Amino acid sequence: MSPSKHSSYHVPVLLGETMEALAVQPGGRYVDCTVGGGGHARAILERSFPGGQLLGIDADPEAIDAAHKRLEAHRSSVLLVNDNFVNLQATCIRYDFFPVHGILFDLGLSSMQLNGSGRGFSFQYDAPLDMRFNPGQEITAADIVNSSPEAELARIIRTYGEEGHSRQVARYIVRERPVTSTLHLARIVEKAVSRKGSKIHPATKTFQALRIAVNLELENLEIALKQAIELLGFEGRLVVISYHSLEDRIVKCFMQREARKCVCPPGTPVCVCGHKPRLKLIHRHVVAPSEDEMRANPRSRSAKLRAARLITQNDCLATEEMEVLLAETKARAWRRPALLRKLQMVFAMA
Ligand SMILES: C[S@@+](CC[C@H](N)C(=O)[O-])C[C@H]1O[C@@H](n2cnc3c(N)ncnc32)[C@H](O)[C@@H]1O
Repeated sequence: MSPSKHSSYHVPVLLGETMEALAVQPGGRYVDCTVGGGGHARAILERSFPGGQLLGIDADPEAIDAAHKRLEAHRSSVLLVNDNFVNLQATCIRYDFFPVHGILFDLGLSSMQLNGSGRGFSFQYDAPLDMRFNPGQEITAADIVNSSPEAELARIIRTYGEEGHSRQVARYIVRERPVTSTLHLARIVEKAVSRKGSKIHPATKTFQALRIAVNLELENLEIALKQAIELLGFEGRLVVISYHSLEDRIVKCFMQREARKCVCPPGTPVCVCGHKPRLKLIHRHVVAPSEDEMRANPRSRSAKLRAARLITQNDCLATEEMEVLLAETKARAWRRPALLRKLQMVFAMA
């Protein structure tokens, strides 16, 4: 099968929930760090009219082209930049685009990249093993697959793909090198990993691992989240949609840590960290797509949205009252760490 480029239009995931979490308002200024096909960006521009502005970033030049087309009607309010969001702060400074009302990360791949972009992201279509978001990046998936020592390959597949059979997959790959294409790799993984009892294709985890490694996805996300918080203005919002547990863990830990008053190791009798909360969580639990959305757009199935906003002086005053309550409860709850963690969570949300 050889589908045409951009054959699948990207349907934005959790669109209503994202607009709500960003609290998009007329005249607001927003950064979409993963503008992709411009679906979320267009909704932000529509809701922030009149006077709204959007800075859209994407590492993939083809995504920037697609976003230009989709956002044509808003061209006077939008600035599109082909860069990696690891440079978020520098990009916002370069374009004098801060402080902002909201920042969105909709991580992973767009349908345009997945469906026949010819860039090797999918095992459904035959293509060279590339997987770079930006063709200017140095390392391709083929470089990793064909040049890494077996143990390193197994580590990548285990760490970034959470593949239980990583050593076996690595052994089969090394035996069949050079691996030349996506379908070649998928066939090798199929031989290495049994398909029995699993709903997902055996190559899913290996492909995810290679894409994450090629694009340094987890490292870049951690760096960008830290930069994002610095760019938020009064009550500014940070919204992240992730698609697998490794990304979600980074987002969850980051937001929870930034919402906590104390980050001392558990069991420390008196707080010595001096940590100041900077975020307030917007939802108690992660936001997932509805059954209807999952049915209409199967790509949304694994999506998880987390959101937080910059803490204000009023939040801090309310926090002081909560603190007294927490300290009293802490004195009694030390034997029940689970209860204490729950209380701390409620405390972070308050
Ligand atoms: C799920 S798509 C975004 C779709 C978009 N929200 C929409 O509604 O059309 C993810 C996009 O993020 C981009 N991306 C992933 N990692 C990136 C990074 N580190 N820096 C910049 N863009 C990145 C990908 O190239 C892709 O276009």
